[in-house]
Amino acid sequence: MKMQTSTILQAPMNECYERFPKYIEQINRALTSHLDNIETPATQLVEAMRYSVLSGGKRIRPLLVLLTGEMLGVESSTLLRSACAIEFIHCYSLIHDDLPAMDDDDLRRGLPTCHIKFDEATAILAGDALQTEAFEMLAQETHINGEQRLKMISSLTRAIGCSGMAGGQMLDLIAAGKQLSQSDLEQIHKLKTSHLLGVSIEFASIAANCENKEKIALMNFAQCIGLGFQIKDDLLDVESTSEQLGKPQGSDAALAKPTFATIMSVADAKKCLDQIHQQAISHIKNFSNNERLLQLTQYLLTRNF
Ligand code: IPE
Ligand code: IPE
Ligand code: MG
Ligand code: MG
Ligand code: MG
Repeated sequence: MKMQTSTILQAPMNECYERFPKYIEQINRALTSHLDNIETPATQLVEAMRYSVLSGGKRIRPLLVLLTGEMLGVESSTLLRSACAIEFIHCYSLIHDDLPAMDDDDLRRGLPTCHIKFDEATAILAGDALQTEAFEMLAQETHINGEQRLKMISSLTRAIGCSGMAGGQMLDLIAAGKQLSQSDLEQIHKLKTSHLLGVSIEFASIAANCENKEKIALMNFAQCIGLGFQIKDDLLDVESTSEQLGKPQGSDAALAKPTFATIMSVADAKKCLDQIHQQAISHIKNFSNNERLLQLTQYLLTRNF
């Protein structure tokens, strides 16, 4: 059975929407269209998937794909569905991250989390199904050639498996209540968060058939913004409000998670983030047409929510 509704739930405005409205609209349309076309008798499952994907979010990962593509001269229409596949993976990771067995949070993107709105089993399955939909979307992407498609699928699987996001989430859970060195915490942040942001940039470089020198610069850029993004997330958990964040402020402290805001002073974490921001800029300064990607970088690392 096909879902008949095609309304996008009201997404709260944020700076990404204001700065890149055309891309955000394209992304939201493509995500909605894919979800609308899923055929299954399990309507509650698709309802939960729609609820979590179409209820806002900054859409940073798909924006990174499209803006890196723009810098490299790749049309957004070529990368749109691959970009959306990454957003599906991200949404799956958020649904599972919020489960009682993980961070046990009840607010996400300003709304009750998926397991609160539905139930835990539905939330687990919605996450699972979003993950498989992402690979379906990539496998069926015909705007790129077969070799590029395979490279994308392979880099995405590496980024979210044992040596990527799933591994990072495992280490993050085990670290609760422990003292960690900066390098151990950086490793967790890289695995749980940076790798998926890195894939967003890599997708554009694969579609653009970048040369090695460009690939290395982009990989270094990706590592900086990936780590910087999670450091900012750690700082916001301490300094922002639940209302601004749309997720519970203080969640890390409640679970005694080591973060950049606890393994060093907040002031030192901010210095560290500033340094990473400058490094990120230095890696893409030689690319022409880099203005909009630099704007997104600035937003990612200095945002207030
Ligand atoms: C939150 O990601 C999870 C982290 C990896 C820190 P975002 O801050 O991109 O969440 P949304 O998509 O905007 O809700
Ligand atoms: C989440 O990290 C990383 C992934 C979802 C893979 P956090 O647990 O810090 O994310 P938030 O703060 O709940 O968004
Ligand atoms: Mg978490
Ligand atoms: Mg969390
Ligand atoms: Mg967090």
